[in-house]
Amino acid sequence: MFDRLSALPADPLLGLITMFRDDPNPKKVDLGVGVYRDESGHTPIMTAVQKAAQLHMETEDSKTYIGPGGVIGFVEGIKSLVLGADSSALKDNRVAGLQCPGGCGSLRVASELLVRLKEELTVWVSDPTWANHIPLISSAGLPIKTYPYFDPTTGGVNFEAMEAQLSQLGPKDVVLLHGCCHNPTGADLTFENWKRVAELAAEKGFMPFVDIAYQGLGDGINEDVQGVRYLSEKVEEMIIATSCSKNFGLYRERTGTLLIQTKSSENANAIQTQIQDVARANYSMSPAYGGFIVDRILSDNSLRQEWETELNAMALRVKSLRGGLLEKIQARGIEKDFGFITTQKGMFSYLGISKDQVIRMREEFSIYMADSSRINVAGLNTQCLDYVADALKTVCE
Ligand SMILES: Cc1ncc(COP(=O)(O)O)c(C=O)c1O
Repeated sequence: MFDRLSALPADPLLGLITMFRDDPNPKKVDLGVGVYRDESGHTPIMTAVQKAAQLHMETEDSKTYIGPGGVIGFVEGIKSLVLGADSSALKDNRVAGLQCPGGCGSLRVASELLVRLKEELTVWVSDPTWANHIPLISSAGLPIKTYPYFDPTTGGVNFEAMEAQLSQLGPKDVVLLHGCCHNPTGADLTFENWKRVAELAAEKGFMPFVDIAYQGLGDGINEDVQGVRYLSEKVEEMIIATSCSKNFGLYRERTGTLLIQTKSSENANAIQTQIQDVARANYSMSPAYGGFIVDRILSDNSLRQEWETELNAMALRVKSLRGGLLEKIQARGIEKDFGFITTQKGMFSYLGISKDQVIRMREEFSIYMADSSRINVAGLNTQCLDYVADALKTVCE
């Protein structure tokens, strides 16, 4: 039977990894895959994570199953990290929470929960959005439509067009929003934009579905969730999918949470059983390890301080690379305005060059990026900025 299925085309981003690895050019630069890198191109284990892992190893005395919700302290810690200690929903016990296998697992469990509602829901995603949103949500059985988002002429958000689309929506619509550091564009909503989205959600009745995978990698741990917290106060119900892959560097440990804000603590208790049941039907329960590590970090003052300091340093490194690259580009007098590089947030930027130019960057200069011209800014380093700016000048002329 299996001979009926043919091989699928390689994932374009994963294809870039192989091409990059096999490229003998010593000047090659990898701006493709979205993982944080330090100045030497390494994706480090954060020191707070190393220390928490050591403590965990010394104290864990059993590998028996944990409860169906995951590591409870971890889920509670993430609830406060995202929604803040003053959150009304948290004070009223209106938020169900589940440890999930990464942000992807959270997005998937959320999608299956939505299917259980047996409403004819449509999920609206930004144009463009992170490529994996589409299979994660649609293969759960939900139709997807796009709302206008990125404005290639400014490198920012076309909020007028987005607002016009959201104004047409109603209670059968779910709107996926990137909590911060939009992937792939780096173009974020302003706080004023978030306020308007919250107002529309409350007025039209659509369900906000926030995906937050980069908290702390933009303007700061609290600053990055200002909009999400505002939204949580203004609407009764919402979905939040979080990931610890980037801000704790726990990529391979598959550590995320799904939070469902409901109207009452009774609703939250009911939804808690539903999301646990979705997990049970798919993979039983999440791997616990990453949850134990994050729980330790968030609940220990000194580890938490260390984590925050390191995360801030990572965010600052990305910001300074943005500034550095823009400076080099401007010094070369390239006609195209790349000013958006320093206003976009987080690890990604859309350079706004054509696919042909992206291919020239790769073939002539061994600078690798997605065909869309999304770059992982963290893949740059101070040594390669001149080289990248020179290459950009050549392909933009
Ligand atoms: C926007 C967005 N959401 C969610 C995720 C999920 O990450 P993970 O499943 O590795 O935790 C990512 C990872 O790249 C992302 O960019």
